[in-house]
Amino acid sequence: MPENSIPSLTHNGATIPRLGLGTMAHPESDKAVNLISHALKSGYRHIDTARKYGSEEWVGEGVKDSGIPREDIWITTKVTEDNAKSDDFARSVETSLNAMQLDYVDLLLIHWPSRTVPLEETLGALVKAKEEGYAKNIGVSNFTVNLMDQAVKLCSEKLFINQFEYHAYINQNKVMEACKKHDLLMTCYVPLGRGKILQDPILKEIGEIYDKSIAQVGLRWLIQQQGTIIIPGARSKNRIDENMNIFDFELNDDEMNKISKLRSNNYRAVNPEVRRPVWDE
Ligand SMILES: NC(=O)c1ccc[n+]([C@@H]2O[C@H](COP(=O)([O-])OP(=O)(O)OC[C@H]3O[C@@H](n4cnc5c(N)ncnc54)[C@H](OP(=O)(O)O)[C@@H]3O)[C@@H](O)[C@H]2O)c1
Repeated sequence: MPENSIPSLTHNGATIPRLGLGTMAHPESDKAVNLISHALKSGYRHIDTARKYGSEEWVGEGVKDSGIPREDIWITTKVTEDNAKSDDFARSVETSLNAMQLDYVDLLLIHWPSRTVPLEETLGALVKAKEEGYAKNIGVSNFTVNLMDQAVKLCSEKLFINQFEYHAYINQNKVMEACKKHDLLMTCYVPLGRGKILQDPILKEIGEIYDKSIAQVGLRWLIQQQGTIIIPGARSKNRIDENMNIFDFELNDDEMNKISKLRSNNYRAVNPEVRRPVWDE
């Protein structure tokens, strides 16, 4: 990775930038490509996508358009639970790589646990993708403590990360403890609670001290926790830049604790009935 203002974490021999651009809600067409390219030109070196989002084509185009060498960018994609069977999984990975016009991704995730396909089969397909060189690192998403315990036991390769919902309005202590126990990094998705935290008076008050926005304080609080990576989504250049501008101030212990108390709001933004596991409360 070249030097840039975004810090990284090195884990299992791989170095992942602690801030990535989420691309789930990106508008179609040239605008998305333009935003992804803008993020990369501004200093982002990490893009989060998934087969399910329909944004992989734009990620590929955005990377090309940015002119930043492929090897300097961390790209994560995911295979949905509909493709949990090994053949389907392999096909999904191939489709993702073709869509992005890439030979490999830096991180490949099982997007959601499957309710029907044995975890061992999907993990086998995940490992195979790594062995075949399509993914440098592998991991899971939306895995609970119990699912992580199972996955670590069943997987023949070391898992790199669990990606799950985490922001100032949800307490994820249990899943975070399990990640630490199993030596997994943590990607915090919907780090702004899909906008839910953006009216919070405590975050606003703390932001005024540092001349930072509510979003920046919420993101900073996440990044000051050990082993975390954040992937905020934003659909304007201003917000993409704003969300990167969080590495020049530091919250003190009292401010960190005040924000941690907001987790009692107990707000879960992503909770699809058709695929959610039994969450750790
Ligand atoms: N693994 C999973 O199952 C999973 C599930 C959900 C999401 N994700 C990942 O997480 C990423 C982020 O999630 P998300 O985009 O849904 O939620 P989010 O990052 O929590 O919030 C995005 C919302 O906040 C707004 N926003 C962004 N920056 C802002 C700023 N500086 N000031 C004010 N508003 C701001 C955005 O507005 P605009 O868009 O209008 O700019 C958008 O409405 C996704 O793109 C995806 O990559 C993963």
